Amino acid sequence: MSTSFQAEKFIADNVRSIPRSGIRDFFDIVQGMKDVISLGVGEPDFVTPWHIREAAIYALERGRTSYTSNLGLPKLREVIAPSLEKHFKVSYDPKRQILIAVGVSEAMDIAFRAIINPGDEVIYHEPCYVSYSPGISLAHGVAVAVSCGASNGFAVTAEAIEKAITPRSKALVLNFPTNPTGGTMTREELEKIATLVQRHNLLVITDEIYSELTFEGEHVSIASLPGMIERTIFLHGFSKAYAMTGFRIGYACGPVEIIEAMMRIHQYSMLCASIISQEAAIEAIEHGEPDTIEMRDQYRLRRNYIVNALNEMGLKCHLPRGSFYAFPCIQSTGLSSKDFAVKLLEEEKVACVPGGAFGPSGEGYLRCCFATSMDRIQEAMARMSRFVKRVRGS
Ligand SMILES: Cc1ncc(COP(=O)(O)O)c(C=O)c1O
Repeated sequence: MSTSFQAEKFIADNVRSIPRSGIRDFFDIVQGMKDVISLGVGEPDFVTPWHIREAAIYALERGRTSYTSNLGLPKLREVIAPSLEKHFKVSYDPKRQILIAVGVSEAMDIAFRAIINPGDEVIYHEPCYVSYSPGISLAHGVAVAVSCGASNGFAVTAEAIEKAITPRSKALVLNFPTNPTGGTMTREELEKIATLVQRHNLLVITDEIYSELTFEGEHVSIASLPGMIERTIFLHGFSKAYAMTGFRIGYACGPVEIIEAMMRIHQYSMLCASIISQEAAIEAIEHGEPDTIEMRDQYRLRRNYIVNALNEMGLKCHLPRGSFYAFPCIQSTGLSSKDFAVKLLEEEKVACVPGGAFGPSGEGYLRCCFATSMDRIQEAMARMSRFVKRVRGS
């Protein structure tokens, strides 16, 4: 006798336990609405610079349509290495220490899978990018969050990390500038963390995707500090700095043994990143720096405007020193971050992401992405101000 088939029962426990992304759910609502100003999705409003698109077109014209080496095109790895030396003061062998991946997303996923044994704990700072905790769980690890607050610009302290360390701790994930807070770290703070991870023999995974979008102060990668390059997996990509989200291209650098382990996962899953995107990435590294600087300068102007406008309407907002997100506190309105975001969308057609989507410590905040035109930001702020006044009854 055949029993009725229940697809749900075939889903693995660790997949069943991960929540749907709060951002996705929210943007499913936005999709069906008209005239919405979106400060939601975290991607540049700029189209990929023309010379980079042209490099992709030219790759197609030349019939560059094959697989590449699992590690990625040698030329791309060869241009990445000196660029990292120049901008991050880190030195990697392009033949054995750089792996081209399908965005930082894939690089992060294979990094977790390469290092985590079931039950290993991985510490990360929160509020944070939505993929870290699920990525760790999918690799059968235990995600351990360390909360960061607005009082110190959402930087993470060595003391807070130390409290989360247990005998099962294996790695620490850092992402500065941070999505969603725009938090950055000083060299001194990173040095304390470097000392701590060395003392506890932890590995660091650093997600550097917003590094170029640092508005003031020097950006320091923890990988560049003494004794750190050998215990750091350095992840970077092209999505944000060169407005190349749709190209799906990023990379991982690290100790030879770890890159080799990651490469084995990559070779049986993704095989390689698209050759067309890799060709475009070569052009981005070789000639794209002025574009990045120009976009960053635009983001800075918009940041200054939006942070000022948010504070003026009474939503306390710290100054994000990097990334393209403002993260105002909405607690003074008495609404939860989800209620605030839903009402704002329904009543004023402005879409922002509720802070709670970035972990429990994001509750009470709202993520407003300012990678959209100044006109639209101005209109969004006028609408939001009207909304806040109404909520407060003033
Ligand atoms: C912190 C962070 N890391 C990684 C990613 C994913 O980047 P990619 O497009 O390279 O996969 C994002 C995308 O928003 C991000 O904000």
